[in-house]
Order: sequence, then structure tokens, then C-alpha cells
Amino acid sequence: MTSSSLMSKLPRHIAVIMDGNGRWAKQRGLSRSEGHRAGVQAARSIVKECLRLGIPYLTLYTFSTENWGRPQEEVSLLFKLLTDFLHDEEEDMCRNGIRLNIFGDPDQLPFSARSILRRVMKSTSANSKLTVNLALNYSGREEILRAVRSILRQGYSPDDLTEAIFQKELYSGDIPDPDLIIRTSGEQRISNFLLFQCAYSEFYFTPVYWPDFSPESLQNALNDYANRSRRYGLTEEQNS
Ligand code: IPE
Ligand code: IPE
Ligand code: MG
Repeated sequence: MTSSSLMSKLPRHIAVIMDGNGRWAKQRGLSRSEGHRAGVQAARSIVKECLRLGIPYLTLYTFSTENWGRPQEEVSLLFKLLTDFLHDEEEDMCRNGIRLNIFGDPDQLPFSARSILRRVMKSTSANSKLTVNLALNYSGREEILRAVRSILRQGYSPDDLTEAIFQKELYSGDIPDPDLIIRTSGEQRISNFLLFQCAYSEFYFTPVYWPDFSPESLQNALNDYANRSRRYGLTEEQNS
């Protein structure tokens, strides 16, 4: 495929399960903390690459509701790294047209993370080049339940409820479903990520640990994606 036809088949929305920080560190005789620090650098470079490529939506699975069960020191470190990352990146995000969004309930996050998230979401809210959604304190099942609760509270009659109405109640709201979901580290599972939105996503699994996932690794995923045939239940002829 030529580079121009590859460009025309770029996903609008990429979602990433950034996995393997701990194993990356262990392989090098480093602490898990060092793995997470290296993971932040990888996230930084992938955000920049998506911006460069003109991809409008990027969702990063940053912390699941299940991740609260990890050792307290690891949880604290993860939120400290997140807080530092947002402090460091706020100016660049504003300058480069990046909008920050969160999928998950911010109220349960540590105070410092919550306040910087709120601030950066506000200061970047008018930006539109690239929307970066951080899935934080996120659970796909909980997101669906939360939407159901909201629908019930609004008193919809069952016959009036449509997919479009339901979708608006998800954290993703009007954001298009992910075209491509990447999971690093060799695991091939969804781990409670975007359960409703992934109905017709293309999946890309790579053995690369997240800290080693480079712009070149992203390009490999994009090349693979460009060669997929998305049929949405129809025949190949109908889609061509
Ligand atoms: C991903 O790396 C980061 C988070 C889940 C927060 P892991 O910490 O899960 O790394 P492994 O899976 O232990 O290697
Ligand atoms: C998924 O990774 C969550 C994030 C990347 C934030 P995990 O490492 O928590 O997932 P499992 O435990 O391997 O399924
Ligand atoms: Mg993991």
C-alpha cells in the first residue's frame, strides 16, 4: 500500500491499553516505579506522534478501578507521576491544540491529581486538534451501569431509548468509537476497557512492553490497521 493510501486509512480514534511497565522494569533489574516513569515518557511521545499524524482522538488506559488493589505505594506513585505529567505538559497542550478529557469519576482521585486534572481540562477545553482522553479510575462495566442509572433517573420509557441516547450517557459522549485498540505487553485481553465502544474496533496486540512502544511501533500498528477490511457485518463487495 502506498503511503498516501495508508494516510487515508488512518484511524480517527486510537485507544491504548498501556501495559507492561512492571515487566519492562523487572527485565532490567529496576523497580516497578522506574517502569512507570519510563511509561510516562512513552505516553508523552505517543501523544506527540498522534498530534503530528493528525489523529483527532487518543484514549489512554491510565488507571483501572481494579488497579486500586495494587500496593499503596505503587498507587501513590502512579498519581504523583500523573500530577507531574500534567504540570509539565499543560503549557504544551494549550499551545498545540490538545484537549484533555477524563473517562472515569475524578471525585475518587487523590486531591492533587483531581485539582490539576480539573485545571488542565478547563484550560484546554476550547482546543480541537487532538483530544486526549485519560481513562482514570475507569471500569467499562461501571461506565455502562452509570449510563443505565442516568437513563433511569431521567425517566425514559423503554421504547424511547435508542443507542444514540444511551451512548451520550457514556464517558465518551459524542466522541466516535475507537477504530483501533492497541494493547502492549503480549496480553490479549480487554481488561474492562471500553466494553460498549469496542463493538467494531480493530484490535492490535504487540509483545512490546509499553515503555518501549515508540512512534515506530505506532506506525507498525497503523500499517496493520490500514490493511484490515472492516465489514461491519456486510459483505466485502458491499463495503468496497
Ligand atoms: C501498566 O503496566 C500500567 C498500569 C496498569 C497502571 P503494569 O504496571 O500493569 O505492568 P505489568 O503488567 O505489571 O508488567
Ligand atoms: C490494564 O492493565 C489497565 C491499564 C493499562 C491501566 P492491567 O495490568 O491492570 O490489566 P490485567 O490485570 O493484566 O488484566
Ligand atoms: Mg499489567
